[in-house]
Amino acid sequence: MVILGIESTAHTASVGLVSERAEVLGLASDMYRPTKGGIHPREAANHHVEQFPALVRRAMDAAHLQPSDVEAIAFSQGPGLGPCLRAGATVARMLSLAWGRPLVPVNHCVAHIEIARVLSGMEDPLLLYASGGNTQVIAYGRGRYRVLGETLDIGIGNFLDKLWIELGGTFPGGPALEAEAKRGSELLVLPYSVHGMDVTFSGILTAALALHARGVPLADLAYSVEVTTYSMLTEITERALAHRRRDTVVLGGGVACNERLRTMVRTMVEARGGTMFAPPRSLCVDNGAMIAWTGYLALRAGVTIPVEESVIEPRQRTDLVLAPWRTG
Ligand code: ATP
Ligand code: FE2
Repeated sequence: MVILGIESTAHTASVGLVSERAEVLGLASDMYRPTKGGIHPREAANHHVEQFPALVRRAMDAAHLQPSDVEAIAFSQGPGLGPCLRAGATVARMLSLAWGRPLVPVNHCVAHIEIARVLSGMEDPLLLYASGGNTQVIAYGRGRYRVLGETLDIGIGNFLDKLWIELGGTFPGGPALEAEAKRGSELLVLPYSVHGMDVTFSGILTAALALHARGVPLADLAYSVEVTTYSMLTEITERALAHRRRDTVVLGGGVACNERLRTMVRTMVEARGGTMFAPPRSLCVDNGAMIAWTGYLALRAGVTIPVEESVIEPRQRTDLVLAPWRTG
C-alpha cells in the first residue's frame, strides 16, 4: 500500500510517498525563503501553489509509481498558516477527486511525532517536539498525545529565526546560528526560563539583542543562546521522563536537526540508562513523508474525510486530535 502525503503548513511545500512499512519511496520538497524578514503567509502560499504540480510529478517519478498505485491522499489539516494550509488542502482534494482515492486529514504535529516514532522502533517513547511554531514535551495517554510541557510564548525555531533576522540575517535562522555557535566558546549570561515543564523564550530574545548591541562576539552569542535554550529543553524533557517513568525519547521537528540539541538530550537520557533517537534531518524538517505515514496509520484506523468537509484547522493543537491507531 502506498499513501501520498501533502505538507504545506508554513514555509515548505512537500509531497511524500510512503509504503505501509514506512519506506519513503519518493519525497520532493521546496522551501519558500523570503529575501528579507519572516514568512509572509500569502507569499508562501503563492510559492506552494506554483511548486505543487512539479513536486507531485517529481515524487511520483522518483517512486516509479502511477496514480493507480496510490491508495489514499493525506494532507496537513493544521496547525499552520491559513493561506498555506489552504494551498495544500486544495491540491489534496484535487488529487483525491481526480484519482478517486480517499482523503485523510493529518495533524502536522502528530506527523512529526509518528515519523520519529516509527523510525526509532520504540513502542511508547516520550517526545520532544522542537520546531518553528511548537516546543512541546509529549507522551501518549488514553487515546491521544498529551502535552506535558510546552513553550508559553513562541516556539524555539521561531525564536532562533527571529533572533537571526534581528541580527541582520535571513530565514531560516536555526541552521545559520548553529554554524555560528560552533565557533563560540564563552558562555554569556542569558535568562534561563523554565517553569515546571514549561519554557519561555521572549525574554532571552530581548537579552540576546541587548548583548549584541553591547558588541559581544556573534559566535559567543550564538553559542550561549544554544547552550541556554537547549539546556532548558533538556531539563523539561528529563523532568517529564522522571514523572512519566519512561526511558526512551525521540526528537522531532526542524530544531531536532541541531547537533548540540541532539547531543545534550542524548547525554541526559543515556545518563539515566535510557535511549534517545532522532530521525535523519530530511525527516525532522517539514516533509510530505511524515504526512503520508501518519495518513497510513489513520486510514488503517478508519479515518477519512469527505472532500466537502475537509476544512483546514489553523489552530489544531497536538492534544486536540485523537490517535485511534494507538488504542489497538
Ligand atoms: P511547526 O512544526 O511548529 O509547525 P514548522 O513546520 O515551521 O513548525 P519545521 O520545519 O518543523 O517547522 O522546523 C523549522 C524550524 O527548524 C525553523 O525555525 C528552523 O530555523 C529550525 N531549524 C532547522 N534546522 C536547524 C538547526 N540545524 N538548528 C536549529 N534550528 C534549526
Ligand atoms: Fe513542522
